[in-house]
Amino acid sequence: MEDRTISRAVISRLPRYYRYLGELLNAGVERISSSELSKRMNVTASQIRQDLNNFGGFGQQGYGYNVQYLYSEIGKILGLNKQHNVIIIGAGNLGQAIANYEAFEKSGFVLKGMFDINPNLKGKKVRGVPICMMDELKQFVKTHDIEIAALTIPKTNAKEVANILVQNGIKGIWNFAHIDLQLPEDIVVENVHISDSLMKLFYRLSSQEKTI
Ligand code: NAI
Repeated sequence: MEDRTISRAVISRLPRYYRYLGELLNAGVERISSSELSKRMNVTASQIRQDLNNFGGFGQQGYGYNVQYLYSEIGKILGLNKQHNVIIIGAGNLGQAIANYEAFEKSGFVLKGMFDINPNLKGKKVRGVPICMMDELKQFVKTHDIEIAALTIPKTNAKEVANILVQNGIKGIWNFAHIDLQLPEDIVVENVHISDSLMKLFYRLSSQEKTI
């Protein structure tokens, strides 16, 4: 596979390829053409070919794609074949909901600990994962080789907490706090705003209403 920069747009489509290929595998499909995949995914066959050509193609003329191979190669590109040790900062509603979602672990997301400033939460566990206080963070990150932190705290202190995470060696932040973080370039931040998706739904509903 060639080692070159892949556009964010392509990367953002890979999880969807991965999901569809996983479904095909579960259905016992061994190979698929780009046109068949394009029908199922509702994207053009040329888009699929272009996207996958970024990684060396994977397909063979006249054969199509080997589903198992493509699934595992995309999984590798996405880093799903590796273990990622994760902590959650903010053990409230959202933090606990993420902690309770066991299926993330199939993607190599291994939740090691949760952190909060509320002393009432100290020592409690969510699905067996301990809630610790922020003063335990430094040692915990080192001992458990933590790479990623999910930030599920209010935006008020999010910048300050993100800086503390970086100082302690965190490399990736899954940021649910509604604030843009200014961090060193080598820190990977993925912002999640569920409400954006909800607003898009609202918009689409209201634009449908207009056309009726
Ligand atoms: P919550 O109030 O149930 O939980 C927040 C937790 O963070 C509390 O346990 C609190 O003690 C802790 N906390 C506050 N400051 C902290 C700090 N400096 N260090 C460590 N822990 C700290 O709130 P909930 O419902 O879990 O939401 C959390 C945040 O996530 C909110 O700001 C909300 O706006 C945001 N959110 C974002 C979504 C998204 O799609 N991006 C979706 C839902 C919520």
